[in-house]
Amino acid sequence: MSCQISVKKEGNMKILANDGLAEEGVKALLNAGFIVITEKVEQTNLADYINEENVDIILVRSATKVRKELIDACSGIKLIGRGGVGMDNIDVEYAISKGIKVINTPAASSQSVAELVMAHLFGLCRFLHDSNREMPSKGISDFDALKKKYAKGIELRGKTIGIIGFGRIGQAVAKYALGIGMKVLAFDAKSMTKEIYLEFAESSPVKIPLSTVTFNEIITESDFISIHTPAQSGGLAVIGEKEISQMKNGVILINASRGGIIDEKALIAGLDSGKIAGAALDVFDNEPNPDPLLLKHPKISLTPHTGAATEEAQDRVSGELASLIIESFQEA
Ligand code: 3PG
Repeated sequence: MSCQISVKKEGNMKILANDGLAEEGVKALLNAGFIVITEKVEQTNLADYINEENVDIILVRSATKVRKELIDACSGIKLIGRGGVGMDNIDVEYAISKGIKVINTPAASSQSVAELVMAHLFGLCRFLHDSNREMPSKGISDFDALKKKYAKGIELRGKTIGIIGFGRIGQAVAKYALGIGMKVLAFDAKSMTKEIYLEFAESSPVKIPLSTVTFNEIITESDFISIHTPAQSGGLAVIGEKEISQMKNGVILINASRGGIIDEKALIAGLDSGKIAGAALDVFDNEPNPDPLLLKHPKISLTPHTGAATEEAQDRVSGELASLIIESFQEA
């Protein structure tokens, strides 16, 4: 267990950053007089640890769950901080009802998630995910066969991307897609018009107003669909068998939001029938134990929930969390 202790004053508040915290945030918190523990305590030992160590603040990413049971067992917790966007691993309303402050960092990782979505898109269009699996073993023996197998790539320019969920991440994806000449359709639970600013080197940004369309338009008119909604209540899917049946043949789907937002069984069936040409998944039902059928599928480009896992995003996350915590306890 690594425990970094500030020597500034007696009676410092103790923070357990159970899923890690980038250095920038740790330094800011130490400078402000907090004690910061940055190593991981197993979920099953968490309540005991928090009580034994008198932890005041718990910080998590998506891995550690802060459910009602933990909140009830640890009456000393004053603040729960989520380094990231999704709060589905925290019983937020229950915590608030117990007088615990709950914070997150909704803006810090949009850019990184959008870049991962674009990486998956570019990769899928040229079968990079599969080619990278096949070349090491067959690149010498079957070079010509592999060249033929991956010969029917497609270009992104001029194609239509449908974005479901037009918040910060959806807008960041729209910006990249517009920048490479894609047509963008966006849907959100509340209809809106957003101005997307495209920046090109030194020149003034180009402003592109984008108004949301209906869910049905996204489903039926998109060549690519990327989903950026929060987890739905009861773990419901946004895209299931019915929606897939209404999509264009050869559609490509990307999910970097929450596992299960695309129904995983319907996805596999759609890929196997050829209705869906390819998919990218950064998130999975049942993390950290995804369905092996997804992991082995040759038409799926895979990442292990790393949308926000860039140095830049994690620096922003930690800095923002530290500022919010310091603000919260300034007078304490
Ligand atoms: C989020 O909700 O912020 C993303 O899914 C990232 O999750 P992570 O903090 O576990 O990387």
